[in-house]
Formats: sequence, C-alpha cells, structure tokens
Amino acid sequence: MAERLTVGRVAELAGVSVRTLHHYDEIGLVQPSARTAAGYRAYAAGDVERLREVLAYRRLGFGLREIADLVDDPATDAVAHLRRLRGLLLEQRDRADAMVAAIERELEARAMGIKTTPEEQLKMLGAQLYDTIGSAYPATRRTEPRIAAQIWSALGDARTVLNVGAGTGSYEPVDRDVTAVEPSAVMRAQRPAGAAPCVAADAQHLPFEDQTFDAAMAVSTVHHWPDPLAGLRELRRVARRVVVLTYDARTPGWLERFWLTRDYLPEFADLLVGWPSLADMTRAIGGRAEPLLIPWDCADGFFEAYWRRPEAYLDEQVRRAVSVWTRVGPEAEQRAVNMLREDLASGRWAERNRDLVALDAAELGLRLLVA
Ligand SMILES: C[S@@+](CC[C@H](N)C(=O)[O-])C[C@H]1O[C@@H](n2cnc3c(N)ncnc32)[C@H](O)[C@@H]1O
Repeated sequence: MAERLTVGRVAELAGVSVRTLHHYDEIGLVQPSARTAAGYRAYAAGDVERLREVLAYRRLGFGLREIADLVDDPATDAVAHLRRLRGLLLEQRDRADAMVAAIERELEARAMGIKTTPEEQLKMLGAQLYDTIGSAYPATRRTEPRIAAQIWSALGDARTVLNVGAGTGSYEPVDRDVTAVEPSAVMRAQRPAGAAPCVAADAQHLPFEDQTFDAAMAVSTVHHWPDPLAGLRELRRVARRVVVLTYDARTPGWLERFWLTRDYLPEFADLLVGWPSLADMTRAIGGRAEPLLIPWDCADGFFEAYWRRPEAYLDEQVRRAVSVWTRVGPEAEQRAVNMLREDLASGRWAERNRDLVALDAAELGLRLLVA
C-alpha cells in the first residue's frame, strides 16, 4: 500500500478528525477510491490532492457546498486551484496585516487620549462585498455574446484596454492587450488561467498615469463604486476612450419597467438611492448613452437577465450570483421569492406579463455609455 494512506494516517497528517473524513466521504466531497484488505478507507494520491484542496478552502471560510462546486469544476486543474488558494491566502494575510496596523494606530491614539470616530472603527473591518458573495459568481455569470459584440464595437480600434471592476473577465476582448483592475481577491482568484493580468485596485484610485490606455471599460460594476462619478472621471483620465455598461435609475417610473422590481422586490429602489443621473454619468466621461437590450435567452445571469424566464429567480444559485439579492437582505428576498412562486403556480404572473412572451429582447434600463 505504498502510495495509499489509511484514513487514520490522513487524519493525523492533515490535523482533522477521522469523523470529518467519514463525513466528507458520506456527502461525496472526498471519497477515497480504494479500501485496504481489511476494508478500511484508503486514500490514493488523487484523493489526497482533492482533500488538500477541500481543507484549504474550508480553512479560508468557504462552505461545504461552495467547496464542492469549486473542486468539481472540470475547468480548474490542480495548478489553478493552487494559484487561487495562494491569491486568497495572500489577501487574507494582507487584510490581517492591515487590521493589526489599524489596531496599533488605535491603541496609540487611545494612549494619547484621542478618540477614533465610529467610521474609523468600522473601516478596519470593511470587506469587499464580492469577497463574501464572489465565489457564487461563475456559476451563472458569463459572457453574453450579443452584449459583448456591442461593447467591443464601442471600443473601436483601441489596442490597449483597461477593464475596471473586471471580476472574472467576462467581457474582456481576447484580441486586444487587456489589463484588468479588480479589488476583490475572491474575484481575482477566479479569473481563468490565461486571463489578462489583473491589478488589485479600485476605480476611484487607478494606479496608472494619465492617458495610459487607448480605452477603459467598466461592465456592471459602477453601481458598486462608493463614488461613481469620481470613478468615471478616473476612467476618463487614464484612457482616451471610455465604454461603460451601467443602469438608468432616474427616468421617472423606472421601478415599474421590470416586473421583478415592480411586483416583488420594490426594495431594489433603496439600493440606488443617491445614484447619479445618466446625464451626470455621461458628463463625467464626456460622452453619450445608448440603450442596451437584453435578449430573452441572455447567457449572463445578471439581475434582469431572466425577464422572460421567471422560474430562474426561484433558483438559489441564480440569486447568489447577483449582489442585489444579498444587498436587499434575506427577509425581502424570501418574501419576493415566495410571492413569485405562488404567482407562477397560480398563473397570475403569466396573466400580468402576457405581452412579454412575444418579445425577443427587452429594454430594462441598461445603458452603454460611450466617450
Ligand atoms: C457584477 S461584478 C461585474 C464583473 C465583470 N465586470 C462582469 O461583467 O462580469 C462587479 C465587480 O465590481 C467590483 N467592484 C466593487 N467595487 C469596486 C470598486 N470600487 N472599483 C472597482 N471595482 C469594484 C466587484 O468586486 C465585482 O467584481
């Protein structure tokens, strides 16, 4: 049994209980591929590699279901997992260092009788939203080719492109020289092997000289920036051309545009309080806005993507990949989902939204800003 390890030996080496390993076996997370002559579980090299990944993600705070999705992904090999784990661990170390430094500063301030403001106290804990929800992103979020075509055509002949709030790189054109900017370590770690190089920074402080790039793009991210107009001005500063996919939440009656926000989730409006107008955003980059239609079978599972496939919103996996559902809170989410489920079962949804069935694409407020 030279290259096989017994369950007891694996537990001892990994510093976990045999019970934990049995549990992972029972739920199908890590199933040892062999048995000893006496019938004990025996772990081959491949089993140990998978277990090591599971335990490392566990130590980083991932849930067992999330881990199962990660380690079962056929597109991620052992090297890609190691790269991702290294990125996440370095980020965790950086964050711990930053917290230690903040605590030391506060201790010094207190020793001198200086009080820290509530804002300063909370700042040291501030996590990126996408570090919390980002691991669910790749399940349903991917490039929608028709939207990509519109973005790439707006990039014109730009050869060097900066993609800000790049996430997993869904809309990065492969035929240009792309540099990505993404503040969340979890999102950075999920960028596929061979994706454009990615810098850890945020839109408000782009670490580049003026006019470094032919074009800067930002897709479905501006609503996450603490100061959208400052971020847009940064895009304008570092690039000669700017392309932004965003949302118009200022046209009167906008909440009524989409049945999901109109009939089930009016709390969506609270998320966009203080959101700049389209006019202010286009002014920040010095450009124009054009509507972007959402195809009925949109491949990228963003919030509005399933406007003609309402059952999709009942799926937890679909919701977890869209920040809106986390940001409105579990109570509003559950209420909306329960109401929708009832209306789908009773035929009320179909009755109210009869006219949608005939549409191939919908105008739900998405805008492409081009400068
Ligand atoms: C909905 S995802 C979009 C990702 C990608 N652009 C796409 O279309 O798939 C939003 C992204 O914005 C990033 N983000 C959040 N705050 C940001 C900021 N201040 N500056 C730049 N990006 C930010 C998030 O970490 C997340 O990856």
